[in-house]
Amino acid sequence: MGKLDGKVAIVTGAARGLGRAYARRLASLGAKIAVTDLNLRSYEEFEAEAKAMTGDSTVDEIIAGGGEAIGIEMNVTDENAVKAMVQTVMDAWGRIDILVCNAGGGRGRPIDTKASTLETPLLHLVTEMNYYGTVYCVNAVAPVMKAQRSGKIVTVGSIAGLGPSVDGGYAHYGAAKAAILHYTRYLAQDLGPFGINANCIAPGTITTGRIMATVVPGSANANRDRTEQIALRRLGSVDDCAKVVEFLTTDLSDYVSGQCIAIDGGMVRSA
Ligand SMILES: NC(=O)c1ccc[n+]([C@@H]2O[C@H](COP(=O)([O-])OP(=O)(O)OC[C@H]3O[C@@H](n4cnc5c(N)ncnc54)[C@H](O)[C@@H]3O)[C@@H](O)[C@H]2O)c1
Repeated sequence: MGKLDGKVAIVTGAARGLGRAYARRLASLGAKIAVTDLNLRSYEEFEAEAKAMTGDSTVDEIIAGGGEAIGIEMNVTDENAVKAMVQTVMDAWGRIDILVCNAGGGRGRPIDTKASTLETPLLHLVTEMNYYGTVYCVNAVAPVMKAQRSGKIVTVGSIAGLGPSVDGGYAHYGAAKAAILHYTRYLAQDLGPFGINANCIAPGTITTGRIMATVVPGSANANRDRTEQIALRRLGSVDDCAKVVEFLTTDLSDYVSGQCIAIDGGMVRSA
């Protein structure tokens, strides 16, 4: 018996990295998983992600492990595509208990994305893929959860949404993630009377293939030991985050809503 037997979960951006870890963990607890992503083979972009795969896709991995999953390719910035995805899940399983709005990320370099010199295309892209994508997914799923009078929604912020970088770079990403966090507080108020919990997680530096290939070597001081700023003196793993998602999507968090949990090992931020 799994804690999530009979439950249905949607995880966006689940083809690789953190989303894949959330999908696999919820599947291991018994949930049926809609693995959604722009590209279900996005792991091919990063060697470490491709190496970690034990099947052709997250869907195949879950099925090989005895779970149930379907894969849906869609862009969270396309509201109609999001609605169609939710309809596909309803047609397949008839309910939705968990939504993890994980799709997103940053684009551009910190030097090009300072708060006062943000390029408009980057501002639109990053705001849409993070904040708008989250809102579109919630809008599409909320009527189902309201009718069920139950549900758990996890949104994905970042420590970049909790405090600024020292030099003001990556402002578009930090502001979009801050918007997600504050939106989640409103969401909890709106949906609480229907028995629906909404919480946000704010990961720190997590060793996904993308982060290790791009952000860490591309930072202002690539050789700096990043763990010096972290109380636990290590970077985070995808499982560190998946454990918190397990907490927020199971009965362990039944009386927790409108909160943000930083998963950063006790990090103190600097440039
Ligand atoms: N890795 C970290 O250190 C870290 C830290 C803080 C927050 N986060 C957040 O966690 C989430 C996942 O991070 P990750 O490191 O695993 O990223 P990643 O880039 O490795 O994976 C993101 C996945 O989302 C998909 N995706 C991107 N845009 C999409 C869109 N518009 N529609 C549908 N799918 C889309 C990608 O194809 C990819 O498979 C992101 O929201 C990111 O901002 C990550």
